[in-house]
Amino acid sequence: MNIRLFKPSVGKEELENLKAVFDRAWLGLGPLVSQFEQEWSSYIGCKDSIGVNSATAALHLALTAFGFPPQKKVLVPAITFTSTASAVLYNNLIPVFVDVDPETAVMDLNDLEAKIDKDCVAVIPVHNAGYPVPMDDLMSLAEKHGLKVIEDCAHCAGGEYKGRKLGTWGHIGCFSFEEKKCMTTGDGGMICSDDPELIEPLRAYRWVGIDKDTWRRAESAKGRQENEALHWHYEISVLGYKYNMNDIMAAIGLAQLKKLDAMNARRRAIIGKYLDGIKAIPQILPYTNYRLEGHEAYWFFGIRCELRDELIVHLKNSGIATGVHFYPLPLHPLFKPYDNGCPVAKEIWKTFITLPSHVDLKDDEIAYVIENLHGFFK
Ligand SMILES: Cc1ncc(COP(=O)(O)O)c(C=O)c1O
Repeated sequence: MNIRLFKPSVGKEELENLKAVFDRAWLGLGPLVSQFEQEWSSYIGCKDSIGVNSATAALHLALTAFGFPPQKKVLVPAITFTSTASAVLYNNLIPVFVDVDPETAVMDLNDLEAKIDKDCVAVIPVHNAGYPVPMDDLMSLAEKHGLKVIEDCAHCAGGEYKGRKLGTWGHIGCFSFEEKKCMTTGDGGMICSDDPELIEPLRAYRWVGIDKDTWRRAESAKGRQENEALHWHYEISVLGYKYNMNDIMAAIGLAQLKKLDAMNARRRAIIGKYLDGIKAIPQILPYTNYRLEGHEAYWFFGIRCELRDELIVHLKNSGIATGVHFYPLPLHPLFKPYDNGCPVAKEIWKTFITLPSHVDLKDDEIAYVIENLHGFFK
């Protein structure tokens, strides 16, 4: 058996939507991006969403929205993907690494509070693997210290915490629709907020600084009598980026959004099977404190094992792909200058193994992985 670690679950619904895009022959930033933005806003329950080409772009622009003075500090967890902290550097700000909770592997709120100083302006909680950072407590802390909150929801599209969708707790939520995530648009991302005034200026930033996108310009020029020749007119008043989502991505996203709840439910079912399967192996613990109450969106299932590298090789020899999420950021050369400790992150990552848990994984494949985990310890 050969089992992939990640695999996007795409099929005929996505193809049908793509066919319509081809028939219309408008592939770039167009009406489907607007439609996807609106449907996304109503799905997660926020006032405004802006489609971009990745969560990396979303995080970059989310920080830009606040216009923080250079060299202010932004708190980020030590265990996350580079983009969370790269976004801080893109904005000429300083990342401050916060240690993680030993059991859940998300930002430790005690360490967060201990690291806040007068130069800190924002915090980016990451719902690592889909496990929600306790957002009620984090928001109280942020309010007390005057911090802006950008939720990095790259791993938890559709997930909830205490009955409210993740991505709607902070001032801005950023999502990833990269091919491996809970839902995909190939590559893609979304910026969401309940404060349209805060994020609307980002539409120009995602579109090389242009104040009106081409589709809306063409639409608003239709049938215009006065100044009709000016339909081409636009102005650039900010230094923007080519970060837009396009209609090909949005077509896939609209189909995926319809399946998102079912896909998240399937991931929970897979995780349930793994949790049952590893119960009898004392040398293996779950990566995080997976709760399966019905509203969670977990990007992946992972385990912890002291014999991490040996187990990875054993699984590889049986055709099972694995991964490690994540090598703590302060250990990477780029972020070493910002290393400020984080002993828990630096210890626990050594035991992390991510196992195949994508939506199309079959029950017999899960059983095969579990059998191989047992086999390793026999
Ligand atoms: C926590 C986190 N934030 C941001 C990103 C960036 O996402 P994207 O690939 O959409 O840029 C990732 C990607 O894996 C991630 O894991």
